[in-house]
Amino acid sequence: MIVSATEMLKKAKAGHYAVGQFNINNLEWTKAILLTSEEQKSPVILGVSEGAGKYMTGFKTVAAMVRAMDETLGITVPVALHLDHGTYEGVKACVEAGFSSVMFDGSSYDIDENVAKTTELVKLAHDNGLSIEAEVGAIGGEEDGVIGAGECADPAECKRIADLGVDMLAAGIGNIHGIYPENWAGLSFETLDAIQQQTGEMPLVLHGGSGIPDEMVKKAITLGVSKVNVNTECQLVFAKATREYIEAGKDKQGKGYDPRKLLLPGFEAIKEEVKVKMELFGSVGKA
Ligand code: 13P
Repeated sequence: MIVSATEMLKKAKAGHYAVGQFNINNLEWTKAILLTSEEQKSPVILGVSEGAGKYMTGFKTVAAMVRAMDETLGITVPVALHLDHGTYEGVKACVEAGFSSVMFDGSSYDIDENVAKTTELVKLAHDNGLSIEAEVGAIGGEEDGVIGAGECADPAECKRIADLGVDMLAAGIGNIHGIYPENWAGLSFETLDAIQQQTGEMPLVLHGGSGIPDEMVKKAITLGVSKVNVNTECQLVFAKATREYIEAGKDKQGKGYDPRKLLLPGFEAIKEEVKVKMELFGSVGKA
């Protein structure tokens, strides 16, 4: 059931668990995540970056595929179709295309411009029944060619953006996208705690969820994180399972070259990874 992320995140914040955002890249990814969510009776957020949207030939294609798949698979758990790290133009395009949730990443603007643009987009999103995520403080690593440094957000700026009526707030707490470097200092729980004290009931979002030690993820959830974004780990398990299939020569046995067979181990690996994350986040059985 495609819905905005508002209710599922309010429930998660009140219930001290988190909903996973899993990024999608194609049909196999989408099907794996939807089926696992239904099996685990877990709410879920499907993340679509601007790059992934372009890859899938545009946000309209994505919305049509996800909505049709949700219906034909008979998915009953709440599913939000969410733009990840959207630009100002990207948010507008996703509202038009039929997404149920958007993120406006204004973290590259100065705080006044971030506030101005976020204010405008909150109205647009809410007028159309979508939920909206905003960001304060760049999240490090590389996301669609944009490289941030893993900074910690200013809690007072977080409060300013939270007060604009956004439904969820991403704030840098030393997290980065992609694989964490050996010398990573870990999450700043001090910053997270200060942000939660300033923003109260606001569901907080932890980006760069891949590769953060489980204990840190759990602690972040106790400090107000209600949404954890995972992308790289699904990509890694998909690549590993596909490589093993090819290296074992299975594509050369019978009709092992059929894409429906070739992509199956990767599909199953994503399903397993999503299940493990849902258990970690505490969202199993919460739909
Ligand atoms: P990872 O690729 O590090 O899991 O980050 C995902 C993310 O935060 C998407 O916004």
